[in-house]
Amino acid sequence: MTKLNVVRVNNESEAAQYVHEYVKNKLQNETLQTIGLATGSTMIPIYKCWVESTLDFSEVTAFNLDEYVGLSKDNPNSYAYFMNEHLFQHKPFKQTFIPDGLAEDPEEECERYEQLLQEHPLDLQLLGVGENGHIAFNEPETPIDSITHVAKLTDSTLSVNGQYFDNAEKMPDIAFTMGIESILRAKSIILIAFGEKKRAAIEKLLEGKVDVHWTITYLLTHPDVTVITDLQA
Ligand code: GLP
Repeated sequence: MTKLNVVRVNNESEAAQYVHEYVKNKLQNETLQTIGLATGSTMIPIYKCWVESTLDFSEVTAFNLDEYVGLSKDNPNSYAYFMNEHLFQHKPFKQTFIPDGLAEDPEEECERYEQLLQEHPLDLQLLGVGENGHIAFNEPETPIDSITHVAKLTDSTLSVNGQYFDNAEKMPDIAFTMGIESILRAKSIILIAFGEKKRAAIEKLLEGKVDVHWTITYLLTHPDVTVITDLQA
Protein backbone atom coordinates (compact mmCIF):
# COMPACT_ATOMS: atom_id res chain seq x y z
CA MET A 1 0.00 0.00 0.00
CA THR A 2 1.37 3.39 -0.95
CA LYS A 3 0.91 6.74 0.68
CA LEU A 4 -1.84 9.01 -0.62
CA ASN A 5 -0.84 12.47 -1.71
CA VAL A 6 -3.24 14.67 0.29
CA VAL A 7 -3.51 18.30 -0.83
CA ARG A 8 -5.34 20.62 1.58
CA VAL A 9 -6.98 23.63 0.00
CA ASN A 10 -9.03 26.49 1.41
CA ASN A 11 -11.68 26.63 -1.24
CA GLU A 12 -12.93 25.29 -4.55
CA SER A 13 -10.99 27.76 -6.62
CA GLU A 14 -7.69 26.59 -5.09
CA ALA A 15 -8.68 23.02 -5.96
CA ALA A 16 -9.48 24.05 -9.52
CA GLN A 17 -6.09 25.81 -9.78
CA TYR A 18 -4.30 22.69 -8.56
CA VAL A 19 -6.06 20.44 -11.07
CA HIS A 20 -5.44 23.00 -13.83
CA GLU A 21 -1.67 22.99 -13.17
CA TYR A 22 -1.60 19.19 -12.94
CA VAL A 23 -3.43 18.76 -16.26
CA LYS A 24 -1.40 21.52 -17.92
CA ASN A 25 1.85 19.73 -17.03
CA LYS A 26 0.58 16.43 -18.34
CA LEU A 27 -0.54 18.06 -21.59
CA GLN A 28 2.84 19.76 -21.96
CA ASN A 29 4.72 16.49 -21.34
CA GLU A 30 2.39 14.72 -23.74
CA THR A 31 1.36 12.22 -21.08
CA LEU A 32 -2.37 12.90 -21.30
CA GLN A 33 -3.90 11.07 -24.23
CA THR A 34 -6.92 9.78 -22.30
CA ILE A 35 -8.76 11.18 -19.30
CA GLY A 36 -11.58 9.82 -17.15
CA LEU A 37 -14.09 12.50 -16.15
CA ALA A 38 -16.65 12.75 -13.38
CA THR A 39 -19.91 14.62 -12.86
CA GLY A 40 -21.41 16.26 -9.77
CA SER A 41 -21.29 19.75 -8.28
CA THR A 42 -17.68 19.24 -7.13
CA MET A 43 -16.54 19.14 -10.75
CA ILE A 44 -18.25 22.37 -11.86
CA PRO A 45 -15.45 24.77 -10.74
CA ILE A 46 -12.83 22.42 -12.22
CA TYR A 47 -14.47 22.44 -15.65
CA LYS A 48 -15.20 26.18 -15.46
CA CYS A 49 -11.49 26.78 -14.91
CA TRP A 50 -10.61 24.60 -17.94
CA VAL A 51 -13.20 26.36 -20.11
CA GLU A 52 -11.75 29.76 -19.19
CA SER A 53 -8.18 28.56 -19.78
CA THR A 54 -6.09 28.01 -22.88
CA LEU A 55 -5.77 24.27 -22.15
CA ASP A 56 -6.04 22.32 -25.38
CA PHE A 57 -7.83 18.97 -25.17
CA SER A 58 -8.23 18.50 -28.89
CA GLU A 59 -5.87 15.49 -28.84
CA VAL A 60 -7.39 13.99 -25.68
CA THR A 61 -10.01 11.24 -25.52
CA ALA A 62 -12.42 11.47 -22.57
CA PHE A 63 -14.42 8.77 -20.82
CA ASN A 64 -17.12 9.48 -18.26
CA LEU A 65 -17.59 7.34 -15.19
CA ASP A 66 -21.31 6.79 -15.20
CA GLU A 67 -24.81 7.52 -16.51
CA TYR A 68 -28.36 6.91 -15.33
CA VAL A 69 -30.11 4.02 -17.08
CA GLY A 70 -33.15 5.36 -18.94
CA LEU A 71 -32.13 9.02 -19.34
CA SER A 72 -31.42 10.41 -22.81
CA LYS A 73 -28.53 12.77 -23.46
CA ASP A 74 -31.08 15.59 -23.90
CA ASN A 75 -32.49 15.06 -20.42
CA PRO A 76 -31.09 17.84 -18.18
CA ASN A 77 -30.57 15.28 -15.40
CA SER A 78 -28.42 13.00 -17.53
CA TYR A 79 -24.67 13.07 -17.09
CA ALA A 80 -24.27 13.42 -20.87
CA TYR A 81 -26.21 16.70 -20.63
CA PHE A 82 -24.12 17.82 -17.64
CA MET A 83 -20.87 17.21 -19.54
CA ASN A 84 -22.06 19.12 -22.60
CA GLU A 85 -23.29 22.02 -20.49
CA HIS A 86 -20.17 22.37 -18.37
CA LEU A 87 -17.39 21.26 -20.67
CA PHE A 88 -17.78 19.63 -24.06
CA GLN A 89 -19.74 22.37 -25.81
CA HIS A 90 -17.05 24.86 -24.76
CA LYS A 91 -13.86 22.80 -25.17
CA PRO A 92 -13.24 20.43 -28.07
CA PHE A 93 -11.94 16.96 -27.26
CA LYS A 94 -10.63 14.40 -29.74
CA GLN A 95 -13.41 11.99 -28.74
CA THR A 96 -15.76 11.70 -25.78
CA PHE A 97 -17.45 8.58 -24.44
CA ILE A 98 -20.23 8.10 -21.92
CA PRO A 99 -22.49 5.08 -21.44
CA ASP A 100 -25.70 5.38 -23.48
CA GLY A 101 -28.54 5.81 -20.98
CA LEU A 102 -31.02 4.62 -23.59
CA ALA A 103 -29.12 1.50 -24.69
CA GLU A 104 -31.63 -1.21 -25.53
CA ASP A 105 -29.59 -3.96 -23.93
CA PRO A 106 -27.88 -2.65 -20.76
CA GLU A 107 -25.66 -5.72 -20.38
CA GLU A 108 -24.38 -5.32 -23.92
CA GLU A 109 -23.80 -1.62 -23.28
CA CYS A 110 -21.64 -2.48 -20.26
CA GLU A 111 -19.56 -4.87 -22.35
CA ARG A 112 -19.20 -2.31 -25.14
CA TYR A 113 -18.07 0.39 -22.70
CA GLU A 114 -15.63 -1.83 -20.85
CA GLN A 115 -14.14 -2.92 -24.17
CA LEU A 116 -13.62 0.73 -25.18
CA LEU A 117 -11.94 1.42 -21.84
CA GLN A 118 -9.60 -1.50 -22.31
CA GLU A 119 -8.66 -0.21 -25.74
CA HIS A 120 -7.95 3.30 -24.37
CA PRO A 121 -6.06 2.97 -21.05
CA LEU A 122 -6.68 6.07 -18.93
CA ASP A 123 -3.75 8.32 -18.13
CA LEU A 124 -5.70 10.20 -15.48
CA GLN A 125 -9.04 9.66 -13.75
CA LEU A 126 -10.88 12.46 -11.91
CA LEU A 127 -13.20 11.40 -9.11
CA GLY A 128 -15.67 12.93 -6.70
CA VAL A 129 -17.16 10.91 -3.88
CA GLY A 130 -20.68 10.23 -2.69
CA GLU A 131 -21.67 10.82 0.93
CA ASN A 132 -21.70 7.04 1.44
CA GLY A 133 -18.17 6.78 0.05
CA HIS A 134 -19.11 5.62 -3.44
CA ILE A 135 -16.82 6.39 -6.36
CA ALA A 136 -18.65 6.64 -9.69
CA PHE A 137 -21.75 4.57 -8.75
CA ASN A 138 -19.82 1.81 -7.02
CA GLU A 139 -22.04 1.53 -4.00
CA PRO A 140 -21.00 -0.04 -0.68
CA GLU A 141 -19.99 -3.70 -1.01
CA THR A 142 -19.17 -3.50 -4.72
CA PRO A 143 -16.23 -5.89 -5.23
CA ILE A 144 -12.76 -4.57 -5.99
CA ASP A 145 -12.61 -6.59 -9.23
CA SER A 146 -15.83 -5.10 -10.65
CA ILE A 147 -15.81 -3.80 -14.22
CA THR A 148 -18.45 -1.68 -16.00
CA HIS A 149 -21.87 -2.77 -14.73
CA VAL A 150 -25.40 -1.65 -13.96
CA ALA A 151 -25.54 -0.60 -10.32
CA LYS A 152 -28.60 -0.58 -8.11
CA LEU A 153 -28.50 2.76 -6.31
CA THR A 154 -28.77 2.75 -2.53
CA ASP A 155 -31.38 4.73 -0.57
CA SER A 156 -28.64 7.12 0.50
CA THR A 157 -27.68 7.89 -3.12
CA LEU A 158 -31.33 8.13 -4.17
CA SER A 159 -32.01 10.69 -1.50
CA VAL A 160 -28.80 12.74 -2.03
CA ASN A 161 -28.96 12.79 -5.85
CA GLY A 162 -32.78 12.94 -5.91
CA GLN A 163 -32.62 16.60 -4.94
CA TYR A 164 -31.46 17.45 -8.48
CA PHE A 165 -34.59 15.95 -10.02
CA ASP A 166 -37.67 18.17 -10.05
CA ASN A 167 -39.62 15.14 -8.96
CA ALA A 168 -37.50 12.60 -7.08
CA GLU A 169 -39.68 9.77 -8.42
CA LYS A 170 -38.34 10.50 -11.88
CA MET A 171 -34.85 9.55 -10.75
CA PRO A 172 -33.77 6.16 -12.11
CA ASP A 173 -32.73 3.74 -9.39
CA ILE A 174 -30.15 2.03 -11.59
CA ALA A 175 -27.13 3.42 -13.40
CA PHE A 176 -24.27 2.38 -15.65
CA THR A 177 -20.97 2.73 -13.88
CA MET A 178 -17.34 1.95 -14.50
CA GLY A 179 -16.32 -0.67 -11.97
CA ILE A 180 -13.60 -0.41 -9.35
CA GLU A 181 -11.17 -2.39 -11.48
CA SER A 182 -11.91 -0.15 -14.48
CA ILE A 183 -11.14 2.92 -12.34
CA LEU A 184 -8.01 1.49 -10.71
CA ARG A 185 -6.49 0.75 -14.13
CA ALA A 186 -5.98 4.52 -14.63
CA LYS A 187 -2.30 5.51 -14.31
CA SER A 188 -3.06 8.40 -11.95
CA ILE A 189 -6.15 9.35 -9.98
CA ILE A 190 -7.27 12.67 -8.49
CA LEU A 191 -10.16 12.64 -6.03
CA ILE A 192 -11.78 15.91 -4.94
CA ALA A 193 -14.01 16.21 -1.87
CA PHE A 194 -15.45 19.32 -0.23
CA GLY A 195 -17.46 19.98 2.89
CA GLU A 196 -18.73 18.24 5.99
CA LYS A 197 -21.01 15.89 4.05
CA LYS A 198 -17.91 14.18 2.67
CA ARG A 199 -16.11 13.99 6.04
CA ALA A 200 -17.08 10.39 6.85
CA ALA A 201 -15.83 9.16 3.46
CA ILE A 202 -12.56 11.10 3.62
CA GLU A 203 -11.92 9.95 7.19
CA LYS A 204 -12.44 6.32 6.14
CA LEU A 205 -9.96 6.80 3.32
CA LEU A 206 -7.37 8.46 5.56
CA GLU A 207 -7.71 5.68 8.13
CA GLY A 208 -5.76 3.67 5.59
CA LYS A 209 -7.68 0.37 5.68
CA VAL A 210 -9.55 -1.14 2.73
CA ASP A 211 -13.20 -1.52 3.71
CA VAL A 212 -15.73 -3.06 1.31
CA HIS A 213 -18.46 -0.87 2.87
CA TRP A 214 -16.63 2.29 1.76
CA THR A 215 -15.61 1.80 -1.86
CA ILE A 216 -13.49 4.98 -1.75
CA THR A 217 -10.98 2.97 0.33
CA TYR A 218 -10.15 0.77 -2.66
CA LEU A 219 -8.06 3.74 -3.81
CA LEU A 220 -5.57 2.71 -1.12
CA THR A 221 -4.48 -0.14 -3.39
CA HIS A 222 -3.48 2.27 -6.19
CA PRO A 223 0.08 3.65 -6.41
CA ASP A 224 -0.73 7.22 -7.56
CA VAL A 225 -3.71 8.89 -5.91
CA THR A 226 -3.99 12.60 -5.08
CA VAL A 227 -6.79 13.68 -2.74
CA ILE A 228 -7.73 17.36 -2.86
CA THR A 229 -9.90 18.45 0.06
CA ASP A 230 -10.77 21.34 2.36
CA LEU A 231 -11.36 18.91 5.23
CA GLN A 232 -8.92 18.77 8.14
CA ALA A 233 -9.00 15.21 9.42
C1 GLP B 1 -22.78 11.13 -8.10
C2 GLP B 1 -21.77 10.54 -9.05
C3 GLP B 1 -20.41 10.46 -8.41
C4 GLP B 1 -20.05 11.78 -7.73
C5 GLP B 1 -21.08 12.10 -6.67
C6 GLP B 1 -20.76 13.37 -5.89
O1 GLP B 1 -23.29 10.18 -7.22
N1 GLP B 1 -22.14 9.25 -9.52
O2 GLP B 1 -19.46 10.14 -9.41
O3 GLP B 1 -18.79 11.66 -7.16
O4 GLP B 1 -22.30 12.25 -7.37
O5 GLP B 1 -21.45 14.48 -6.35
P1 GLP B 1 -21.22 15.94 -5.82
O6 GLP B 1 -19.93 16.41 -6.38
O7 GLP B 1 -22.39 16.72 -6.38
O8 GLP B 1 -21.21 15.89 -4.33
